[in-house]
Amino acid sequence: MTSPTPIAVLASGRGSNLAALIAARRAGRLAVDFALVASDKAAAPALRRAEAEGIATLALDPQGYPDRRSYDLALFERVAASGAGLIVLAGFMRVLDAAALAPWAGRMINLHPSLLPKYRGLHTHRRVLEAGDAEHGASVHFVTPELDGGPLIAQVRMPVQAGDSAESLAARLQPLEHRLLVACVAALATGQVVWRDGGVEAGGQRLRAPLRLAVDGSLQPA
Ligand code: GAR
Repeated sequence: MTSPTPIAVLASGRGSNLAALIAARRAGRLAVDFALVASDKAAAPALRRAEAEGIATLALDPQGYPDRRSYDLALFERVAASGAGLIVLAGFMRVLDAAALAPWAGRMINLHPSLLPKYRGLHTHRRVLEAGDAEHGASVHFVTPELDGGPLIAQVRMPVQAGDSAESLAARLQPLEHRLLVACVAALATGQVVWRDGGVEAGGQRLRAPLRLAVDGSLQPA
């Protein structure tokens, strides 16, 4: 049996995705060890969730650093020291410095609440409504210097309903995001999905379109 992949989860807020990862691991559905949970916000509930699980935590305040690069370098140095081989950005609300994230190419993923490449950045639910889209969703992608622009691993889709608000979209998407993130981390931990030559391979095949989260929680070709 291969040993669990040590991961670090970075989160700025609530940490419901971290909770989903913890629950999946406890249920035996996710072969990872939590090496570290880190945040840029000392008050982030995500840190309290991690502490309650006995996971090592780090609160690193950007205000103690002269610029983005020096903060990111310090943060990733601590992540590397934790032994993590994969960084999961689960609601980590900072833009990352290109030089600092370069050593993590292919070893850092991000969860984003839109069907990328649509709606990079903030306020995705509102922007879906303003555009009159019939569909919304979430994406998991490898992190590159381009904000929310790295190679896509998988997506989950859901219909926009009449009368939806940004809040109702966010509430309906959240449980789907949890399942998508768990499935992606599991696929990376087992080697089913790998980063190769600046792109994504799944089951030995170069992905031409992101995988889709199926109803049973598995990742399927689009
Ligand atoms: C999630 O909805 C995630 O998609 C979003 O932050 C939320 C974190 O929730 N991420 C971004 O917007 C990244 N740009 P959580 O703290 O409950 O896991």
